[in-house]
Amino acid sequence: MLHAIIMAGGSGTRFWPASRSATPKQMLRLVGDETMIRQTSSRFGALIPPERRMVVTNRRLVDGVREQLPDLPAGAVVGEPCKRDTAPCIGLAALLVTRVANDPDATMLVCPADHVIPDDDAFQDAVKQAESLINESPGRIVTFGIKPSYPAEIFGYIQRSERLPDSGAPAFKVARFVEKPDAKTAAEYVNTGDFYWNSGIFVWRASTILDALRERQPAMLEHLELIVDAWNTPDRDAVFDQEFTAIEGISIDYAVMEHATDVAVIEAPFEWDDLGGWQSLTRRLGADESGNTIVGKHLGFNTEGSIVRSSDDHLVVTLGLKDCIVVHTPDATLVASKHDEESIRKVVKELESRG
Ligand code: GDD
Ligand code: MG
Repeated sequence: MLHAIIMAGGSGTRFWPASRSATPKQMLRLVGDETMIRQTSSRFGALIPPERRMVVTNRRLVDGVREQLPDLPAGAVVGEPCKRDTAPCIGLAALLVTRVANDPDATMLVCPADHVIPDDDAFQDAVKQAESLINESPGRIVTFGIKPSYPAEIFGYIQRSERLPDSGAPAFKVARFVEKPDAKTAAEYVNTGDFYWNSGIFVWRASTILDALRERQPAMLEHLELIVDAWNTPDRDAVFDQEFTAIEGISIDYAVMEHATDVAVIEAPFEWDDLGGWQSLTRRLGADESGNTIVGKHLGFNTEGSIVRSSDDHLVVTLGLKDCIVVHTPDATLVASKHDEESIRKVVKELESRG
């Protein structure tokens, strides 16, 4: 059976002041009326009904996620006691699906909770194609590649090799996977034309990823197995806290993907956007005739090329503003030059250090 795992434990800081530890990117309504995580879950449609969806997130987000996804069964939102990156999250989900949900032959679709993919049908078709590539070679890992539009350092890169027999969108064997190369290497990759960005979405048999983690991260897998041994016992929370905290954090990209051998990439037949920050809203929502992207109540005079976002019916007025980002929230307001958007992360670090 096909199961969906939504990874939602990230702590994104690029959307400050809207994103906070209690409301990271996946919990925000950035594009459209629904939160990113709700859009992610409904994207699975009838292909993966709610009873086969699971969310792995940080413990403090569990109640908020349940509110967002009331159609998921109780117990489908798993709260990690601390952040250990994506490999433990995925390993835990694979063990829960095979051993607690009792589906040893399960296939897993693993998705980040905070991406924009507007076309649900195209996405579901691509997942079905991934399933058939796995049926041909059960130990295979299937990724979705995005044609790179610039040499981004914030993505993994997938180099394609020979083309696989036609089964839908173009699909290729993967020559290698490189997580977040430096700018120079990324530019070389983009120039060759045979690299994709890794969309961060994976399809594999649960047993495949468990075998890979057992080989590459044996200590991690032991901790995770102890957690799942205690899952239906009164000791569950205590064991979860102790064993999960003892794991060394690492992403699935470094832990497994860079070393995996039987990997295929499907050239994503869907539009995909990993909203990188406030300026990406212009890409998604468009701009008015003055080049402004406005969300919420705003009155502008002589305002150009800016992004203004307000909430709670609060009126923001801008006069003589050019290339700025203004984000109002009830308890914090950002006023920044677009050119300094990257520094928002530093601001968040500074605020965190001040407590
Ligand atoms: N449960 C849980 N626990 N989820 C987590 C954790 C964690 O400790 N850390 C991150 N996540 C979730 C995030 O919320 C996000 O949905 C997803 O896992 C991916 O994590 P990111 O931290 O956003 O990864 P990234 O963007 O730096 O890199 C990944 O995604 C890129 C595409 O967006 C990699 O897979 C790259 O190779 C890829 O290009
Ligand atoms: Mg990300």
